[in-house]
Amino acid sequence: MRPVPIRCFVGFIAMGVLHVIDREGTKHTLEAIEGWRVMEVIRDWGLPMEGICGGAAECGTCHVFVSEEWLPKLFAARDDEEAQLDQLPEVHANSRLSCQILWTENLDGLEVTLAPLL
Ligand code: FES
Repeated sequence: MRPVPIRCFVGFIAMGVLHVIDREGTKHTLEAIEGWRVMEVIRDWGLPMEGICGGAAECGTCHVFVSEEWLPKLFAARDDEEAQLDQLPEVHANSRLSCQILWTENLDGLEVTLAPLL
């Protein structure tokens, strides 16, 4: 069953889908909007994504693991994202802050897994 969106998507045109594996291992397929942060897509579809700092790369509550095949297709993390990731307890080579990934149609099919809660 698909989650119910919190934000009204009327007037927006979906630009592909984002696959999210939640902390129970369930895979969700979410429509995504160009220009939105991946963190916002996940949160606004009602999945457990905090994003406390609102996308400023200062809290780490939007931490996700990006599927290996998608890593080379993303822009490299900037210094501020790397610095925040260094503060998190469980970081892997495929860790990213989902607030730092802006959605474009080129990301259609991106798959991420929610990292454990802080
Ligand atoms: S929302 Fe705070 S680091 Fe991403």
